[in-house]
Amino acid sequence: MEKVLIFLVFLSLLSIIEGAPKDALITELPGFNGSFPSKHYSGYVTIDEKTGKNLFYYFVVSERKPSEDPVVLWLNGGPGCSSFDGFIYEHGPFNYQAAKTHGGLPQLHLNPYSWSKVSNILYLDSPSGVGMSYSDTESDYKTGDRRTAIDSHAFLLKWFELYPEFLLNPFYISGESYAGVYVPTLASEVVKGLDAGSKPVLNFKGYMVGNGVTDDAFDGNALVPFAHGMALISDNLFEAVTTACNGNYWNSTNSICSKLLEKVDQEVDGLNVYDILEPCYHSTEARANDHLRLPSSFKKLGETERPLAVRKRMFGRAWPFRAPVREGLVPTWPQILNGVGGNVPCTDDEVATSWLNNKAVKKAIHAKENLDWELCTGNIEYYHDLGSMIPYHRNLTARGYRAIIFSGDHDMCVPFTGSEAWTRSLGYKIVDEWRPWFFNDQVAGYTQGYDNNLTFLTVRGSGHTVPEYKPKEALAFFTRWLAGEKI
Ligand SMILES: *[C@@H]1O[C@H](CO)[C@@H](O)[C@H](O)[C@H]1NC(C)=O
Ligand SMILES: *[C@@H]1O[C@H](CO)[C@@H](O)[C@H](O)[C@H]1NC(C)=O
Ligand SMILES: *[C@@H]1O[C@H](CO)[C@@H](O)[C@H](O)[C@H]1NC(C)=O
Ligand SMILES: *[C@@H]1O[C@H](CO)[C@@H](O)[C@H](O)[C@H]1NC(C)=O
Repeated sequence: MEKVLIFLVFLSLLSIIEGAPKDALITELPGFNGSFPSKHYSGYVTIDEKTGKNLFYYFVVSERKPSEDPVVLWLNGGPGCSSFDGFIYEHGPFNYQAAKTHGGLPQLHLNPYSWSKVSNILYLDSPSGVGMSYSDTESDYKTGDRRTAIDSHAFLLKWFELYPEFLLNPFYISGESYAGVYVPTLASEVVKGLDAGSKPVLNFKGYMVGNGVTDDAFDGNALVPFAHGMALISDNLFEAVTTACNGNYWNSTNSICSKLLEKVDQEVDGLNVYDILEPCYHSTEARANDHLRLPSSFKKLGETERPLAVRKRMFGRAWPFRAPVREGLVPTWPQILNGVGGNVPCTDDEVATSWLNNKAVKKAIHAKENLDWELCTGNIEYYHDLGSMIPYHRNLTARGYRAIIFSGDHDMCVPFTGSEAWTRSLGYKIVDEWRPWFFNDQVAGYTQGYDNNLTFLTVRGSGHTVPEYKPKEALAFFTRWLAGEKI
């Protein structure tokens, strides 16, 4: 009897030390024949047993000090886009080399600028219906900001129960684009949970948002000054539109203003909205010949240092110019295109799609069989129902949670002008006045630090997805900021 008891105690101790579920461990990945630099885990967490609502995660343990490095949750936006976007195209552990044959299995190489170099990083497909996440009940696919934040919080509590050895690590929430809404609303749920004594207790420290959707007015007013500052519209047009619209571009009802705004739209229409320096492919046919057709002086514009296959075209959300996310239904990309037909301008998701829809890959990462993975899905009906994010940022930073709002300064989808303006509008004292920050003795961008641990930072020459365009610089500021060092 005693022996059995001792054995049981021993077993439960073991499970505390070796908490991670064994069946979630990834032992091999099709396309990759090197050795894993750290442990990878993936699988589902059921957050509603009744409806069968399941959220998929992929967890990359830190390649440095897993027991001390922060745990960072990463969320891509859309709404409707999978966080494998970040995993495959941005800061994941692998670089993907496209197969020589169309639709073949890509080759995976290690990414020297993976964020797993300095953090334990958790990729979550959210809400259910997105990426590898799913529900057995169709009605779960009708969702919105509030539901998504509550579900992601439920996921976190269950996930940390499965991986208790990471409970004491500092915990951060991060994401980009529409995750500008996911991040602060989830952070707010986490803080509410801490206040209410939810278990387990998360060691939540702060959050990061990149080119994030935040507020109708700030986001909607950002394009015109961006277009002018970047020399995309003339002084004349800028002066006329500023006067006619009186600085309000997002909801003006003045007809002269509207006419001039249409002119602005026409001027910028042919550009790649995600990076004004990058070429835009207006059709799939154009893509096949893109390299031949591009003037050589253009090939370097918008160049990225990611060694392999970076998307020539980028999937994500292109809000109609100056019409940012408004209260109510947010159409997903496939829904927008339904009426129009054709491709999403300037986008490509081939490597991700061929890899993640491979049967052996699905099996290796413990994803549901027969699930049709899409980078951005039209299967959900998503409502923006929590309004402006500014009150969330105000509350979170006032409570001492650290925040960094970063921005690729050549993104026209969520331009830096909006993020710079709303962070400033909080009225916090400037504690680190606007200055360049450096990487390899070069100016990598600019930063301004505010009281309450709020940092605004630009990444020079980067498009919408900063770690994709500037992987070295992104890893540098990520590392410094997490460590609490001066960037
Ligand atoms: C995988 O292994 C083969 C043979 O060992 C080698 O030729 C190939 O380059 C390797 N692929 C990668 C992605 O390392
Ligand atoms: C337009 O936006 C301003 C803030 O930028 C706001 O005060 C005003 O109520 C809005 N008007 C409408 C019609 O939405
Ligand atoms: C911010 O905090 C105040 C005071 O606790 C609270 O009333 C309000 O609901 C909070 N707002 C958000 C968006 O969290
Ligand atoms: C800033 O963050 C540090 C580290 O988390 C914390 O100790 C400090 O209280 C924060 N400062 C403010 C003003 O919130």
